Amino acid sequence: MTASRKRILLVGAQGVIGQHVHAALKDRYEVIRAGLDGPDLTLDLSKAAEIAGKLQQLGPLDAIISTAGRARFVPMASVEPAAIESSAYGLGLQDKLLGQVNLALAARSVLKPGGSVTLTSGTTSHDPILGGSSLSMVNGALDHWVRAAATEMRAFRINAVSPSLVEGTPPAALAAFPGFEIISGQRVALAYLRCLESGISGQVIRI
Ligand SMILES: NC(=O)c1ccc[n+]([C@@H]2O[C@H](COP(=O)([O-])OP(=O)(O)OC[C@H]3O[C@@H](n4cnc5c(N)ncnc54)[C@H](OP(=O)(O)O)[C@@H]3O)[C@@H](O)[C@H]2O)c1
Repeated sequence: MTASRKRILLVGAQGVIGQHVHAALKDRYEVIRAGLDGPDLTLDLSKAAEIAGKLQQLGPLDAIISTAGRARFVPMASVEPAAIESSAYGLGLQDKLLGQVNLALAARSVLKPGGSVTLTSGTTSHDPILGGSSLSMVNGALDHWVRAAATEMRAFRINAVSPSLVEGTPPAALAAFPGFEIISGQRVALAYLRCLESGISGQVIRI
């Protein structure tokens, strides 16, 4: 009798990074591919009330990886302080930041002991770009939240991957990052594999 494969929920599986991660994991794990229009599970991280219920439907998981989360490029001059949630900042806060935080919080009820959560932030937390203040705010918050969460979430591990530009990213997005290195899909997938299998927690892997 063969042992059953470990079960991983991959949110954002059809995206640029998600596809690289899926390719690296699919032969050894049972990967449940989720997204706004996911092939195995439809899940919208910006709908906080739905996340826990959707995860419960899946049953026990060994790991959750998020390569999802939207944020907008926005010139700061157009952001009004009194309406921050409804401004162009709102998507990053509700979707990429709170969506992934809510995913990690919901993971507590479905992850097997010793399981792991891996979130995705990004290089703008430490390398600002023009029009990227929303991304910097969200990515910085994710990196610091993951470090703090690991000190209290002792039943499972939690880490973040903070990539530079990834191979396959559309040209319009690449143009917003002049002078940045493009990293291979294989290299970015290795960072997620390290979070999954190396036993680390509270780490932000910058690549
Ligand atoms: N690409 C890069 O070079 C790069 C570099 C650093 C950081 N990042 C970050 O990495 C993440 C993924 O980037 P990417 O380039 O792979 O993006 P992408 O190609 O646009 O793919 C995003 C994926 O996330 C899913 N998704 C989007 N919003 C969601 C939500 N609210 N709930 C659930 N799933 C959602 C999409 O689902 P559907 O396919 O079903 O629509 C899609 O599969 C983003 O947060 C991005 O900021 C990317």
